[in-house]
Amino acid sequence: MPASSNTPEIKIEFHTSPVSDADRIQALESPGFGKVFTDHMVLARWTPDKGWHNAKVTPRRPLELDPASAVLHYAQEIFEGMKAYRADDGRILLFRPEENARRFAQSAIRMAMPPVPDEIFLKAVEELVRVDKDWIPSGDASLYLRPFMFANEAFLGVRPAQEYIFCIIASPVGAYFKGGAKAVSLWVETEYTRAANGGTGAAKCGGNYAASLIAQAEASKRNCDQVVFLDAAEHRWVEELGGMNVFFVMNDGSVVTPPLGGTILPGITRASVIVLAEEKGLRVEQRPYSFAEWQADAVSGKLVEAFACGTAAVLAGIGLVRHAGGEFLIGDGQTGKLTTELRQELVGLQKGVTNDERGWTRRILV
Ligand code: PLP
Ligand code: COI
Repeated sequence: MPASSNTPEIKIEFHTSPVSDADRIQALESPGFGKVFTDHMVLARWTPDKGWHNAKVTPRRPLELDPASAVLHYAQEIFEGMKAYRADDGRILLFRPEENARRFAQSAIRMAMPPVPDEIFLKAVEELVRVDKDWIPSGDASLYLRPFMFANEAFLGVRPAQEYIFCIIASPVGAYFKGGAKAVSLWVETEYTRAANGGTGAAKCGGNYAASLIAQAEASKRNCDQVVFLDAAEHRWVEELGGMNVFFVMNDGSVVTPPLGGTILPGITRASVIVLAEEKGLRVEQRPYSFAEWQADAVSGKLVEAFACGTAAVLAGIGLVRHAGGEFLIGDGQTGKLTTELRQELVGLQKGVTNDERGWTRRILV
C-alpha cells in the first residue's frame, strides 16, 4: 500500500483550557503507569487518494468512531511505546526514536496498513513532546509516548481497510512495576501461547496483547507480576513476557536471550542491552533456551541472574519463577549485580548522564 511521500507540516492547535499548573504538578508527583495523560495528542488521517494528511497536534479529546469502524471488528491496529526524558540539566531527550519509527512501519506492513513515513512519525513525536513539555517529569519518571494507528473505514468486509487514523498520546509515568527495583515474579504459561510461526508475534499489534491477557490474568491469580510465554509449536522454548523481552545471565560470563524469529517482539531495549553487554566483554548468545534448561540452570547455580526488559519496564530483575509443577528462585531471588549495572548504564544514557557515544539519544529543542 503506498504511503504519501509528502511530509506535511504538522499544524499545532493549542488547548484553550489545559490542566492548571497546580493540578499538573500534583499529577506529576506520583503518576504510576498509564493513568495520567497530557493536554494534547497527535492526529493524522490516511485515505487512498490523499495518503497521510491533516497531521496536527490538537487538544486531547475522545475520538468518535462509526460502530462499523474496521478496527472494532477485525482489530487492524498497531502501536509503539517510547519515552521522552528530562535530563538533570534540562535537556529533553528521546532514546533511539528512529527504531520506533522503523518498527511501527514494519508492524504496519505486517498488518496490511499504510506505513507512516519515518519523517512524519518522528516530527509528530517531537512536536507533541514540545507542546506538552511541561508534562515531562524529572528524576526517575519520564513521559511515555504511545503512537498508534487503526483502521477507521466503516465497512464489514474482510480486507485491509481504506481509511486509517494515526494518533499519539502521552502519559507521564513512574515505575511500571509497583515494587520499584524489587525483583519481579513470573508465571510460566504452558497452555496459552502468544504467537506462532507466520503469525504476528514480531508486530506490535493490539491483537497480540488481547490474546495474552488471559495468561496475564493467570499470572496475577498466582501472585506473579508477569507471564512468560513458551513457543507455540512445542511449548518448550522460552519466548518473551507479556510486555518485555527476557535475558538469562550465566556464571561463565555468557548471557542468553531468545532469538528473533518472527514470534517475539524485536525490542529496542533488547537490542541496546545486547550492545551494552557485549561492550562489557560478555558473550551474548541469541539462541533457543528451553524451560527445562532454565529450571536445571537455576537449580545447578549456572544461572545467576535473569531480567526482563522493555521501554515501560526498563530492566527488571527476575526473582521467583512459578509454574504448574512448582516454583524456583533465580540466585537469591533479588535483582542481580549485572542487571543493576546494565540498568544504570541504560538509564544513564536515556537521561543524558552518560556521554552518548553511539548517537542513541535525540535532543528535542524547546
Ligand atoms: N516484548 C513485548 C511483548 C513488548 O510489549 C515490549 C514492549 O514494548 C517489549 C518486548 C520490549 O520492547 P521495547 O524494548 O522496544 O520497548
Ligand atoms: C512498552 O514497554 O512500551 C510496552 O508496550 C509494554 C507494555 C507493558 C506497556
